[in-house]
Amino acid sequence: MNDSGPRIILGVTGGIAAYKSLELVRRLRERGAQVQVVMTRGARTFVSPVTFQAVSARRVRDDLWDEAAEAAMGHIELARWADLVLVAPATAHCVGSLAAGLAGDLLTTLCMATEAPVILVPAMNRVMWANPALQENRALLEERGIRFLGPVEGDQACGEEGVGRMMESIDIVNAVFEEPVRLASQSLKGLTAIITAGPTREPIDPVRYITNRSSGKMGFALAAAAQAAGAKVVLVSGPVSVATPPGVERIDVETAEEMYASVHERVEDADLFIACAAVSDYRPESEASEKLKRTGATLNLELIRSPDTLASVAKLQDGPFTVGFAAETQNVAENARKKLVRKGLDMIAANKVGRDCGFDQETNSLMVFWGDGDVELEQASKSVVAERLIQLIAGRYHAVNSEQHSTQVG
Ligand code: C5P
Repeated sequence: MNDSGPRIILGVTGGIAAYKSLELVRRLRERGAQVQVVMTRGARTFVSPVTFQAVSARRVRDDLWDEAAEAAMGHIELARWADLVLVAPATAHCVGSLAAGLAGDLLTTLCMATEAPVILVPAMNRVMWANPALQENRALLEERGIRFLGPVEGDQACGEEGVGRMMESIDIVNAVFEEPVRLASQSLKGLTAIITAGPTREPIDPVRYITNRSSGKMGFALAAAAQAAGAKVVLVSGPVSVATPPGVERIDVETAEEMYASVHERVEDADLFIACAAVSDYRPESEASEKLKRTGATLNLELIRSPDTLASVAKLQDGPFTVGFAAETQNVAENARKKLVRKGLDMIAANKVGRDCGFDQETNSLMVFWGDGDVELEQASKSVVAERLIQLIAGRYHAVNSEQHSTQVG
């Protein structure tokens, strides 16, 4: 069982939208979360706990007075265990109980006993949602720091149309994982990550070289985010002028070949390899020993291919989980997907680069692809995008590893 992804208590209360929470469990687990479902009595009239148990791979909790369950993990322990309590669907009764501070069942008790963030995803008839009592309860809970997602507008189970539908699972998951700092707490604990960053510098002669516009900011932000998520981080960096994040081991290299050698020296110990460096694809065949003189009207440089560190790590048997970057100037998604397959990567993060975007900028946006999934990380500062990407990587890493583990066991 996956026991290192973010820990989410998913509360399910008694609304018809309860069946949609089955898909929500699947999507949360796909992103690497450990999901403990807690159902209310009302929820059990809509969906059987056995179904939730099957999709969550954990025994469902539904009773504050279940002696066996309490002996295994008491409700206070469960409240402490959670990195997040998400209630979907949340009924008017659930919202009202929390606003009034009533802990009449296991779920409301957990919501009150936890120090983790609580997110409510209401679903109910539009008139109920508009009811002033409910709206006052919502405002009160928001003031106290409880977050609401939705409801959204559309067809309702009761045949009416209006605001009251539960937000779609995919939107809930995206919103939940937008809070990477809180959710990522220690999601890479015990793992070692090698991250490459910056440009490389390929010498032509003692004073000249071939390089590119990469500043190293994205790779350094990833190193900081991975370190904050609990990983031991080795940062193999080309020449940049960015400060090393505290706690990160930095190894400076200049050329693509040095980067390749430095990564391969350490890759055996790595669980994750993130290739963020903008490596020079070609290098001068040999470095002139003296400064080249200005002679003819043209000068020809013979260039040869540099070794591809990322592709070589991805080919290793029992190698680390590999994440590549695809800096593209056109057809970003198409080229990135092709690169994912061609290099045999676990994940690829693509961005559009040019004079005004991507390289040497303070902000970034990414399209991230893996096997059969993708997600867009919206434009934000590089440190925020890095935290979101690390969260995503942690999720996929744990999801892939628990799949492998269950195939080995099963
Ligand atoms: O094929 P392309 O160079 O576009 O692939 C980009 C990805 O491959 C990046 O993750 C980059 O860090 C990595 N790469 C590498 N070694 C090279 C060239 C690219 O690790 N020689």
